[in-house]
Parts: sequence; C-alpha cells; structure tokens
Amino acid sequence: MVRVWDPLVRIFHWALVLSFAIAWISAESLDDLHIWAGYAAAALIGFRLIWGLIGPRYARFTQFIKGPGTVLGYLKSMLRGSEPRYVGHNPVGGAMILALLTSLGGTSWTGWLLTLPKWERSDWLEEGHEIIAGVTLALVVLHIVGVIVASWRHRENLVLSMVNGQKRSASPDEIA
Ligand code: HEM
Ligand code: HEM
Repeated sequence: MVRVWDPLVRIFHWALVLSFAIAWISAESLDDLHIWAGYAAAALIGFRLIWGLIGPRYARFTQFIKGPGTVLGYLKSMLRGSEPRYVGHNPVGGAMILALLTSLGGTSWTGWLLTLPKWERSDWLEEGHEIIAGVTLALVVLHIVGVIVASWRHRENLVLSMVNGQKRSASPDEIA
C-alpha cells in the first residue's frame, strides 16, 4: 500500500461534502446557516487552490490536471473498457475536480454577491445562483458515479482511500 491522500486533502474533502450538503439543505429556508455553510465551502476551495500549488505530490494540480486530448483519450479508453489504473486521480477525475472547484467557486461568489445591498434585489442574479448551484449538484452526482465506476473497474474501494489515505501501489501496467 502507498499513502496517496495526505490528511489535509482528506479533511478538505469530507468538510466540503458536509458544507455543501448543509448549504443545499438549508437553501430553501435561507437562514444564516445557508450563508455560513456557503462561506465554509468557499474557504475550503480557497485552501484547496493553495494546497494544489504547494501541497505534497498527489495533491498538486500539476500531478493530475491533464490537457483536453488526454482527458478525451481516457474517456474513450473507458468506453472500450481498457483504461489504465492511476494511483493518483485519473485524467477524467482530474477534469471533474477542476469542474467541481470552478462551479463551487461560482456558486459561493454569486451567493456572496446576493448579500450585498447592490445585488440584494436582483432576480436574475438569484436565478443565476440557483442555476450554478444546480449545475454543481449535477457534477457531484456524476462525480459519485465516476468514483463507483472506477472503484468497480479497478477492484478497489476509493471511498475508503479518501478516508484512510491508502491505495494499492502501482503494478507495472499501472500509472504511479
Ligand atoms: C458522499 C459523497 C462523495 C463521495 C463518496 C466522494 C468520494 C470521493 C473520492 C473517492 C475521491 C477521490 C477520487 C479519486 O480516487 O481520484 C473524491 C475526490 C474529490 N471529491 Fe468527492 N465524494 C463525494 C462527494 C463530493 C462532493 C459533494 C464534493 C463537492 C461538493 C466533492 C468534491 C471532491 C473533490 C474536489 C475531490 C478531489 C479531492 C482532492 O484531491 O482534493 N466530493 N471524492
Ligand atoms: C456551495 C454553496 C452554495 C449552494 C449549494 C447554494 C445553493 C442555493 C440555492 C439552491 C438557493 C435557492 C434557494 C431557493 O430559493 O429555493 C440559494 C439561495 C441563496 N443563497 Fe446560496 N448556495 C451556496 C452558497 C451561498 C453563499 C456563500 C451565500 C452568501 C454568502 C449564499 C446566499 C444565498 C442567498 C442570499 C440566497 C437567496 C436568494 C433569495 O431568495 O433572495 N449562498 N442558494
């Protein structure tokens, strides 16, 4: 076994899951809880952006953010059922992380704008905030499906790895 996810990435992940869930559940009633959960998500994203630059190997963006060609190539190999196992995030997983961070950032930013006097009564911004939040939820669902598919394809429990940080080390045909 190798340790892939450092403690801060793991705490970041489950704290983000929690704050996103609370923000989502409290959105209708719209109390302080919604706003604080949203700020918590924003702070976590801020941390992750910095950690992606200075964190350990598998936390770094340069380790798992790949160009569109590589991402599409990996998607195609998934459809053929021949995609290699990655010990870090695979190229499609990396693209999903970028999409999640961007749309969470957009959700928090538009939510924050709605608290300013200038935008408080803007219907279209409110609508925009709801739409981006909906897009984020859709990405989360896809993300979870991706985790299940990759766990099944490579016979490993990726959810457990995000808890204990450990993964099976790479065999010669896998990517370390
Ligand atoms: C209960 C639901 C969830 C499960 C089981 C889950 C599971 C996972 C797993 C296993 C990984 C690692 C993927 C890999 O091995 O490459 C991961 C990564 C990630 N997930 Fe989730 N996830 C969940 C919900 C969410 C939600 C709600 C968000 C955001 C709102 C999210 C955002 C992320 C991000 C940003 C990463 C990248 C981790 C990093 O390197 O910092 N996840 N998730
Ligand atoms: C990940 C974070 C967030 C999610 C998933 C989220 C989601 C939502 C959703 C779905 C609604 C629509 C509720 C409805 O009318 O049915 C909403 C409304 C709202 N959110 Fe957020 N939000 C987030 C972050 C934030 C943040 C950071 C703030 C402020 C700092 C914020 C402020 C608001 C406000 C003011 C409204 C109400 C607009 C109105 O009805 O006047 N949100 N949010």
